[in-house]
Amino acid sequence: MAGLQKTLPASWYCSKPIYELERQAVFLQAWHLLGPVTRYADEKKVAYELAGVDFVVERLDDENKDRQSFRVTDLANDYYPGLEALTDRFDFTELPFRRTLSYKGRFNWKTMVDGYQECLHCQYTHRAFSALYPPEPYVVQNHGHYSRHLADPSKPPGDGLFLYFFPCCTLNRYGGGMTSFRVCPNPPPGENEGGDGDDPEVTRMEFDYYNLSDGEAFEDYFRFVRRVAVEDYELCETAQGNLAAGVYSQGVLNPVKENGVAHYQGLVRDRVIGEFRKRQKQQQQQENREGHDDAEVAAKEDLAVSSYRVVGGSVLV
Ligand SMILES: [Fe+2]
Repeated sequence: MAGLQKTLPASWYCSKPIYELERQAVFLQAWHLLGPVTRYADEKKVAYELAGVDFVVERLDDENKDRQSFRVTDLANDYYPGLEALTDRFDFTELPFRRTLSYKGRFNWKTMVDGYQECLHCQYTHRAFSALYPPEPYVVQNHGHYSRHLADPSKPPGDGLFLYFFPCCTLNRYGGGMTSFRVCPNPPPGENEGGDGDDPEVTRMEFDYYNLSDGEAFEDYFRFVRRVAVEDYELCETAQGNLAAGVYSQGVLNPVKENGVAHYQGLVRDRVIGEFRKRQKQQQQQENREGHDDAEVAAKEDLAVSSYRVVGGSVLV
């Protein structure tokens, strides 16, 4: 097993201090894909919350309402190498926005992303999905901060196209439509029913659905993709229970079938450990400064002690 990448430890899926490191080093220093511009065609203002940050996306004019492009800004080009070439090949704006959906689950955000980034579980968990997209040819290609999943090379290139955007966003074209979902960690106080409002084992899932069809044709698509999402949801809640119970601590990742998991977990690990070392260094520097103060105190004590007089084995002031 030497040389194989290990999974993140189970404790990383249950720990508030680890989430605090992730929040600072992963979520607050990332680009987050919210969807194609068509999300905002009819709804001019959409509010979001991600990792404790509230923000609103607002379309200021109608100029871009029907924009037929999905551009990567210059700022994000280095973050998503090669993504623009990919988006040039597919029109992510041809399917109108139809519906949004949001709900919470009792699992850490990484539990869901782990499952998304591999398809070993597909033939057991997603029977209907696997009938359409058999797991054998399924491959994941990693590029910087995104991964491209190719479900079946025999299908048209725009069908069975799954994109993961580090750390928690996806864009998925399959089953005749497109879904974008976000795995929002640790929903803020007030959102966790029955919880304490600050729980790394709770996640809010947000889905946006796009489809050319409306009416019953859309509902057929919706039922199909919802079935896949519910199957993943149930799998994640069960897996999280095992992680929290200490059933599993750490294992190795299959370098071929779990290369997507290895890639994103490597990004998380690097950032969390980097943040941990940074905070350790700051703490050390703080302690050194306090140590200097201790030296001054000690010098004063030396002076005080030197004023003592020893008389007959007793110390007098
Ligand atoms: Fe799945």
